[in-house]
Amino acid sequence: MGELTHLVRRFFASVQRGGPTEVDRAWVEAVLSRSEYELWARQYAPDRRHSASVARRVERELAGEEFIEGAPINEDTRWVLASALLHDIGKIESGLGTAGRVCATVVAKVLGADRVTGWIDRDGCRGRVGRYLNHPEFGAELLRGARSDPRTVAWASEHHRPADSWTLPAEIARVLHEFDND
Ligand SMILES: [Fe+2]
Ligand SMILES: [Fe+2]
Repeated sequence: MGELTHLVRRFFASVQRGGPTEVDRAWVEAVLSRSEYELWARQYAPDRRHSASVARRVERELAGEEFIEGAPINEDTRWVLASALLHDIGKIESGLGTAGRVCATVVAKVLGADRVTGWIDRDGCRGRVGRYLNHPEFGAELLRGARSDPRTVAWASEHHRPADSWTLPAEIARVLHEFDND
């Protein structure tokens, strides 16, 4: 039931138009390296808006521990915010909009994820579904190419795995996971 509500919420979020505010976009540009920002900017507008708002919430949540809100972004904080902004970047390789991804999630549930993730090299719709479901691996590869922090690369590849296999500091991984409700 919770899962169905979640899919419905995702679908409606996907039909909302528009990217992040100019203030958030400029903040993202300040957080990310040039090559990371170029990847981030290739996402669909709703994904840019979503990832910016998740990263803002992560920043606020961790304030008082490692973050001081409004303080200049520094090397201790940058990789965490970059991880929030870029963990789903592999979705840009799928060619699926958010509504298509909701369908992909349903198809994977019905047919079994193992079967569907093998569709990676297929043409057309099946290939898009396969690439979407492999977005953690594609994302990690893109981020390696952008010379992201190794922890940011790790989070892209680990964020759909069980918590006991995460390699990030536990508290940071928990916050990144909790605020990314997609
Ligand atoms: Fe993801
Ligand atoms: Fe996500």
